[in-house]
Amino acid sequence: MNQNNIFMTTKMSQLLLKQLGPRLFSTTSFTHSIIAESSRIPNGTTVGMTRVLNMHVRNWSTHASSESGMDKKENTNTKAISSYWGVAPPSLTKADGSAWKWNCFRPWEAYQADTSIDVTKHHKPVTWNDKIAFWIVQALKYPTHFYFQKKHIHHAVLLETVAAVPGMVGGMLLHTKSLRRFEQSGGWIKALLEEAENERMHLMTFIDVYEPKWHERALVFVVQGVFFNAYFLAYLASPKLAHRITGYLEEEAVNSYTDFLNDLEKGVMKDIPAPAIAIDYWCLPQNSTLKDVVRVIRADEAHHRDLNHYASDIQCQGHELKEYPAPIGYH
Ligand SMILES: [Fe+2]
Ligand SMILES: [Fe+2]
Repeated sequence: MNQNNIFMTTKMSQLLLKQLGPRLFSTTSFTHSIIAESSRIPNGTTVGMTRVLNMHVRNWSTHASSESGMDKKENTNTKAISSYWGVAPPSLTKADGSAWKWNCFRPWEAYQADTSIDVTKHHKPVTWNDKIAFWIVQALKYPTHFYFQKKHIHHAVLLETVAAVPGMVGGMLLHTKSLRRFEQSGGWIKALLEEAENERMHLMTFIDVYEPKWHERALVFVVQGVFFNAYFLAYLASPKLAHRITGYLEEEAVNSYTDFLNDLEKGVMKDIPAPAIAIDYWCLPQNSTLKDVVRVIRADEAHHRDLNHYASDIQCQGHELKEYPAPIGYH
């Protein structure tokens, strides 16, 4: 290799590391970005007040240029607030009047999980479709349990990075199918995207109590690359198989959270106060603990389990998803 080639290769490697390094191996928690403070809205620019559920949306400014002189003066000392085409974002508050501090979800997306849902249900594999899906999940389960053992939070973080993929892939493929065929989806696009978002919120909750190490981030990077593409191809080839696989994955998620909860209840694992994001997302009491959070997350997983087995049943019986209304509005 001549001098020029060596120089070019070194430059290319440096450039690649510079681009990918911080994304792959950063150990900086991204909770900082999602726990952004609520936007300040200038006084004297209010044009209306809207009530959203039991929360208040205040000081909706119609144009940034209507700021009062005092606020203009204050803003010169701070970084410019990015605006929605000149319209300042609303300032949201909680029921108790305190500021809403989450940008990753809004007050009207908060909900109370249905913890009365049956967490012991199991879809018995009968057909070849079911058996293939069941054994794929069993094959994935054992190495995962062997790797994480009793490290429940580590396990939950990895599990959630995988669990948020099927809903997004399925929702995206149904979305493009709806466009291609000029037809409605029966609400299934929304239901699957809701599932993906709900799973991602589980992850946002866990990273508040545990910061993944660089090697765990690298593992997630590889697993996501493989799983996303494999699930995409599976969904294209057989949506009923893909939904059944997700149904069984969700059953395993329910079981994992039951183990997690048992260890918290037995005192094998120390219980800690619930993260603030979880208290606001699931409308939990202020004195809630990790135990309460695991209980509501398990209820969510049981809902995903039922939704995916239902989607697979519809197609196994020779129907299309759009013929049956999707279970949306769970949240
Ligand atoms: Fe989850
Ligand atoms: Fe789930």
